[in-house]
Amino acid sequence: MIKLEVDLVEQIPQLRRMSATERAKEKEEINSVVSGKNLLVTGGANGLGSAFVKVFLQHDINKVTIIDVDNVKGQMSASAINKTAGYEKATYIRADVTKHEEMIDAFKKSSEAMDGIDIVINNAGILDERRWEREIAVNINGNVSCALLAIEHMAMDKGGRGGVLINVAQHCNSETSAQLPIYTATKWATIGFSKALGTSHQFEKKGIRIITLCPGLTETALTIDGPNKLLSRVMKADFVKNLEQLPIQTPFAVAKGLMTILCSGEHGSIWVIENGAHPYEACIPEPQALRRTFKDNYAMDQEVQHVKKKLARDNHENTQAPIGLATCG
Ligand SMILES: NC(=O)c1ccc[n+]([C@@H]2O[C@H](COP(=O)([O-])OP(=O)(O)OC[C@H]3O[C@@H](n4cnc5c(N)ncnc54)[C@H](O)[C@@H]3O)[C@@H](O)[C@H]2O)c1
Repeated sequence: MIKLEVDLVEQIPQLRRMSATERAKEKEEINSVVSGKNLLVTGGANGLGSAFVKVFLQHDINKVTIIDVDNVKGQMSASAINKTAGYEKATYIRADVTKHEEMIDAFKKSSEAMDGIDIVINNAGILDERRWEREIAVNINGNVSCALLAIEHMAMDKGGRGGVLINVAQHCNSETSAQLPIYTATKWATIGFSKALGTSHQFEKKGIRIITLCPGLTETALTIDGPNKLLSRVMKADFVKNLEQLPIQTPFAVAKGLMTILCSGEHGSIWVIENGAHPYEACIPEPQALRRTFKDNYAMDQEVQHVKKKLARDNHENTQAPIGLATCG
C-alpha cells in the first residue's frame, strides 16, 4: 500500500515537489520560449492579467503592454515595472475591449512602443449577470476584437513575426455554471471561437499558435464581487456556498501553469488549470462522439420513466390532481 502511494507520487508531477535540478530545467525551457519576447495583456491591471504580467517578467520578457480600463492600477503597474527596469519596459494603454476602434489604436501604439508583438493574452472579462448586455459585450465582442487584432499584428504574411495567442475562457463545470448562466455562455463562446481558430491550418501558416486557457475558480475581484452580480438571491446563496466549499486557487498558480502550457501546448489545444494543480489538456468531443446509444432500449425506457414522473409531479403540484396520476409510470 505504501509502495503504491510512493509510485503515484512519483508518477503525478503535481503530487510531489520538484527537485532543484528539475526546477532549473523547467525555467530554462520556459525562458527559451518567452525570454526576449514582447507581451500584450488585456485586462492586465488586476487579477489574473496582473499575475500573468508578473510571472512573464520573471522569465525575462523584453517589453509588456497592459491594456485595461482601470487607469489607476494600469498606470501604477507600468510605473512600478519601469522603475525596477530603469527604462520604458512597460506601457499602459487605456482601451475598452468592447470598442474595436480603441483596440485598433491600442494595438498600433503597443506595436510601436515594443517594436512588434509576440505573445497576446486575450484576458479582459467581467462577471455581471445583471448587466448581461455589457457582460456579453466585454466577454464576447471584446474577446473577438482582441483575437482578430492579435492575428493581424502577429501574422507572418502581414509582416508580423508569428507568435502565440492565449484566449482566456473558464473551466465551466456544472457546480459553478448553474449560478452563472450568461457568464457561462460567454465563456463557451470563447472556447468555440478559439477552438475554431485553432483548428484552422491557415493560422499555423501565419506562424501563430492559438491556445485556449480555462482556469478554474480563482481568487480575484471577479470572484469575490461575484455574489452581488447574480440574477437572484437563490443564485447568490448557492454561489456563496460554492465559494465556501470548492477549492480556490491563486492567480499566480494559473500564471505559473500558463508558462508550462506555453512550452508544450500545441496550436488549437485547450488547457485547464484548477485547484492550483499542474495544467491538463482537455478535449471537446465532436458531436458525433456524443451521440447517445441505447442498449436494448434500456436508456430510452429510463428517459420515458423520468419524463412521466416529472409530468405527474408537475401536474400534482399545479392542479392538486389526485395522486393516481403519479402512478401512471
Ligand atoms: N477569477 C476566476 O475565477 C476566473 C476563472 C476563470 C476565468 N476567468 C477569466 O479570467 C479573466 C480575468 O478575470 P479576473 O478573475 O482576473 O478578473 P478581474 O476583475 O480581477 O480582472 C479583470 C480585468 O479586466 C479589466 N476589464 C474589464 N472590462 C474591461 C474592458 N471593457 N476593457 C478592458 N479591460 C477591462 C478590469 O479592469 C480588470 O483589470 C476574465 O476573462 C475571466 O472571465 C476568471
